[in-house]
Amino acid sequence: MATQISRRNAIQSLLAMAGGAAVYEGVRSVMNTPAFGGQSFNAGTLGQAHAALGNWVYLTPQKLGGGTHCCDMGTGKTLAWISYWNYGDTCPISHHLAAYPSPDPYKGFEFINSTQGGKNVMIYGLPTRIQSRGILDRYGQGNNIYRVYFDGQSMNLIENVAETTGMGLGVHTVIFPDGKGFAGADGQKDVCAFFDRPGLTEKTKVQMAFRGDWVPNNKNDLDKTWMEGGTLRLVRLSPATETGKFELEGTRGNKIDWEMVPMAEHLVWTGRLPGEDPRGLTGLDAVVHHPGNRYSALILRMPSAALIVDRTTWEPVCCLHNPEGSPGNLPIKKVSNSPDTWEVRFEDCKCVGHEAGFSPDGKNFTMMNNIQQNNMAVFDTSDADPRKWKKITWVKDPKWVGDYPSPFHLCFSMDGSKMFVSVLSPKPANSASVVVDTKTWQIIKKFENIGPDCQTMAVTYDGKYVLQIFSGFQRLSTGVFIYTQDTLEPVGYLPNFGGHHDCVIVPRDTRELLNSRCTTL
Ligand code: CU
Ligand code: CU
Repeated sequence: MATQISRRNAIQSLLAMAGGAAVYEGVRSVMNTPAFGGQSFNAGTLGQAHAALGNWVYLTPQKLGGGTHCCDMGTGKTLAWISYWNYGDTCPISHHLAAYPSPDPYKGFEFINSTQGGKNVMIYGLPTRIQSRGILDRYGQGNNIYRVYFDGQSMNLIENVAETTGMGLGVHTVIFPDGKGFAGADGQKDVCAFFDRPGLTEKTKVQMAFRGDWVPNNKNDLDKTWMEGGTLRLVRLSPATETGKFELEGTRGNKIDWEMVPMAEHLVWTGRLPGEDPRGLTGLDAVVHHPGNRYSALILRMPSAALIVDRTTWEPVCCLHNPEGSPGNLPIKKVSNSPDTWEVRFEDCKCVGHEAGFSPDGKNFTMMNNIQQNNMAVFDTSDADPRKWKKITWVKDPKWVGDYPSPFHLCFSMDGSKMFVSVLSPKPANSASVVVDTKTWQIIKKFENIGPDCQTMAVTYDGKYVLQIFSGFQRLSTGVFIYTQDTLEPVGYLPNFGGHHDCVIVPRDTRELLNSRCTTL
């Protein structure tokens, strides 16, 4: 496969130079002669360096850049790209993405890309006229869910799932372990939904949707809304009968006017993040899947909790509570049938939480405890019954004190022996990537000073490399830092344009998918 691909790329380059398809046959015969070497232009030292990384298609969104591109790591070329403003989206903040497995990503693959929009573009201090010119009003509200197909040559927008279903969710998108659908969520609306995967020419359907609402014990003091505990209410959402659609496109359903950026939960309880209903906020911005393909975890930032849902019955099972000193597994009780509503009682919320994930072997779950605590809770999730999942330890670092530096995203090595964690420092400082031993849950290696805003990591599925993207999404330095998965040696940097909040190496099968955007964020 590798040789064919580099040959095909070489043919395309030669075609471009020679000026047309007429010379195709001639070029192909040249390519097939041994004298040509069969390796196109990749014979030099730079070519060898790229080839050593292996033939991986690396897909990365560009956040404020407004699109997404993918790189052929084996040749160092951009394979294809897409920019959503070309399709009439007037503020496409290309946010998170996930790719379905494809046996040969170079020939084609499908991915899901959420976008933000609306006031989310206004929070970085840009001297922009985008709002005053009315561009955010109708088609710039964001919360689109684009389905894109790379056909071996270009990226093609095949569906805006938000438009088809009325379900506009702008944050994490995560593929099911069987590759037959995905979950999306949005922390401004506290809504998550599960979607099927239709054929390329068909439209997506919502399988199930939930909203998480917070009912605080202390209803007077905003700064004690979460700290003094309360009730998490999970409500099943249904589409309108007449239209068959949800009414949650664009900014509809937003409780807060823009997203809580990482470690910005305190802006809500200090009254500095306005909106319709900050007091009812749970911060439900993601779903991750247990590899067993039955249980999914709804990630709730404000109470630092993960509500476990059974996707075979669409019933919630229990709720993992992450802070140190809090009970690890809380019961959930059904309180109404119309609509279906469940409640979880929280004595208190000692800290907020964020990114989370299951190990691809299903034995552990981890979630970041942020701000008031600055650690990662680790659960044993090996029991078949989630109600028996237990909090066993915390990953800590003497430097993780105060708000920053703070553990952010995570993923696991192919052999499961290590967990990789990005550690965020506020801009313009550079962020880090650290390695945790999954037997002892101790940090065994740190790569510090990588670049601004280290986001998610991707692992090459041959077990060789870790790709740590750094986003610099506020017009700063951006790229990907690479280190080895086994010996933990730095390999170097590659350019990668955009303000990434995510990245993924397109998996080739459901086994590789488990180490992709499926089990972790
Ligand atoms: Cu998030
Ligand atoms: Cu983000």
